[in-house]
Amino acid sequence: MQPSAPRPRIVPSVLPADFSRLGDECRALEQAGVDRIQWDVMDGLFVPNITMGPDVIASVRPLVSVEFEAHLMVEEPDRLLSRWVDAGCGLVIVHAEACRHLHRTLAAVRGLGARAGVAVNPATPLCAVEHVLDLVDLLLVMTVNPGFGGQEYLASMEPKIAEARDLIARSGRQIELEVDGGIGRGTIAGAARAGATTFCAGSALFRERARLAEEVAELRRLAAEAAAEAVRVMDGTCREEDAA
Ligand code: DX5
Repeated sequence: MQPSAPRPRIVPSVLPADFSRLGDECRALEQAGVDRIQWDVMDGLFVPNITMGPDVIASVRPLVSVEFEAHLMVEEPDRLLSRWVDAGCGLVIVHAEACRHLHRTLAAVRGLGARAGVAVNPATPLCAVEHVLDLVDLLLVMTVNPGFGGQEYLASMEPKIAEARDLIARSGRQIELEVDGGIGRGTIAGAARAGATTFCAGSALFRERARLAEEVAELRRLAAEAAAEAVRVMDGTCREEDAA
């Protein structure tokens, strides 16, 4: 009997937000019932875009209580690790491709008292992270090439999401499986069916500003439905195998 799927987590990316009133935007997200807020940190080197520094995040921290995650799309993330934690991020996600010593970097994040996450770009195989699962609380499978919001979801990543789900199951550890990029009503079910438990969405949420809480609830419902269906299918397969 397969364990039932966890309640899906909906995590907005603030990249499409109105940066001239970030505090209000984050309050609206919190009131809409999101599980965390993702800050897309880009340095213009790891990705061809530049977004925000730790002081921007710190300025919003006192305005809301929802947890912050810093998604570091930067080269050499070790250089400023403590700054994101000091700015109020309870979860710091580094890219495997940006870390020369990934094991040391993840241990350093945990050493700062934060939870640690590792992200992989679409082209990066999961074998790049399989030996550091003991150091992570979250694995992020990118479903777009990082750097911009509003891109098309890569359904070709679903087999990799399923591989990540199985890798985590074999490790026996409590590790969230997050996806990020192109997530919305038309794509979230595919990612949930493949095993994702946490869904980062930017444009799909911000284009529904007027009815944010409804959109968050709808994305969560679609993900839960797809995950439950996947569990039923896996159970059916198990029963057939048992009967054979
Ligand atoms: C892209 C970022 C994503 C992006 C998501 O590099 O990591 O978080 O902002 O935006 P959408 O949901 O619009 O693809």
